[in-house]
Amino acid sequence: MIDYKDFFAQKIQNLHDEHRYRIFIDLERFQDNPPFALWHPTAQSGLDDLSPRKVAVWCSNDYLGLSHHPSIIRAQIKATSLYGTSSGGTRNISGTGHLHNLLEARIAKLHQKENALLFSSGYVANEATLTTLGDQISDLVFLSDEKVHASMIQGMRHSRAERIIFKHSDLADLEDKLKTLDPMRPKIIVFVSVYSMDGDRAPIEAIADLARKYNALTYLDEVHGVGVYGAGGAGVAAELGLLDRIDIIQGNFAKGFGGFGGYIAGTRECIDFVRSYASGFIFTTSLPPAVTAAALTAIDVLEKDVSIQASFHERVAYLKRRLSYSIIPFIDSGSHIIPIRVGDAAHCHLLSQRLLNQNNMYVQPINFPTVPRGGERLRITLTPHHTFDLIDDFVDALSKLWSEFKLRQAA
Ligand SMILES: Cc1ncc(COP(=O)(O)O)c(C=O)c1O
Repeated sequence: MIDYKDFFAQKIQNLHDEHRYRIFIDLERFQDNPPFALWHPTAQSGLDDLSPRKVAVWCSNDYLGLSHHPSIIRAQIKATSLYGTSSGGTRNISGTGHLHNLLEARIAKLHQKENALLFSSGYVANEATLTTLGDQISDLVFLSDEKVHASMIQGMRHSRAERIIFKHSDLADLEDKLKTLDPMRPKIIVFVSVYSMDGDRAPIEAIADLARKYNALTYLDEVHGVGVYGAGGAGVAAELGLLDRIDIIQGNFAKGFGGFGGYIAGTRECIDFVRSYASGFIFTTSLPPAVTAAALTAIDVLEKDVSIQASFHERVAYLKRRLSYSIIPFIDSGSHIIPIRVGDAAHCHLLSQRLLNQNNMYVQPINFPTVPRGGERLRITLTPHHTFDLIDDFVDALSKLWSEFKLRQAA
C-alpha cells in the first residue's frame, strides 16, 4: 500500500538531489523605493543572522516598474472605494462591471482588433482559449513552436486536438510540417513574440506568410512584448506593423503593464465564440475593480508617457554594454531579457545565493524544467528604476563570483 507521506517526501528529496528544489524568497517590495525590497531570510538561506535586510531585485517581470506608478496606484484605490473589493461574480452572473467593458474596448483598440476578452491571468487566457479552439473546431491541428509557454501546451493538450511541434522559430521545419497536412484541414500556428527564457523574438512576419500560404490562423502570445515594445506598449507585432497579420493576440497585464490579468484580442466573431464556449472564462469570478482600473490606467500611462519605455531600453542597452566588456557570457537575443548561461544547477543556485547573501542582489536561478538541463541560467531583467550605478555594482559583483567559481568566460 502506498505511504502518501513518504511518497511526497521522496519526490521533494529528488528535487533537492538535483539542486532544483524551488526556494521562494520572502520579500516586501518597497512601493516608494523600487527596485528595492525587504528580504526576510529563512534558515534555508545559509545565513547566521536572519534579520530582515534591504536587497535590490534583478529578476522582476514588472519590466517598466509600473506597479509603483502613482497614477495607477491612485486608480486602484479609487476603484476599490467606488466599487468595492470584488467584482461579485462570474461575468455571466452579476460579475460584468463597466470597467471590464471599458478595458476590453481599450485592449481591442491597442491591438487594432475588433474585440477583446479578459481572463484571470495570461496563463488562463492561453489555456482556456487554446483548449476551446482545439475542442470546438472539428479536426483542428495545432502547429506549435517547441518553446511555447506551459499554459499554451496545457491548453493544446487539454483540447485533445492534434499538436504538431516545429523546431524553435524554424521556418523550414514549420513549412515541411504544413506541407504534409490536408489543405482543407483547419490549422492554428501557435507561437510567442518574445520567448521568456532566451529573450529571442519570433520571425512573426515569415510565420504569418506561411499561415497565409497554408490557410492557417495565427495565435501569438505577446506576454513579454506588451508594455515594453510598440507605441503605447502594443507589443512586438505592433512595433513591426504586423497587427493585421495576427488573428489572435494574447497578452497580460502582469509584466510590462505592472498589474494583473490576461486577455485575447481578435475578430468580433472569434472573441464572441471564446466568450461563449471557454470554460476557463465562463466559470470563474471576473477580475476585481482595482485590478481592472489599474490595467486601464497603465495603458493610458504608456500611451501618454513615452519616456518610460525609453528609459527602460536605455538601461537594458547599458547593462548589455557593461556585460559585453566583462567576462560574463550573456545571451543578447535582441530583447530586454538578458539570460546568463551558467550550465549547471549547483553553480546556478550557488551564484544566486552568494549574490543575495553577500551583495544584497536578488536573481532567481532558473533550472529544469523551466529550461532544459544544461541550460540553467540567471535571467536578468531591469526596470527604469535600476540606476546606472546599481548596474555597475551588479556587473562587478557577478564578475567577481564568476572568476571565483571558475565558470566558463566570455570569448
Ligand atoms: C510566455 C508566457 N505566456 C503566458 C504567461 C502567463 O502569464 P500570467 O503570469 O499573466 O499568468 C507567462 C508567464 O510567465 C509567459 O511567460
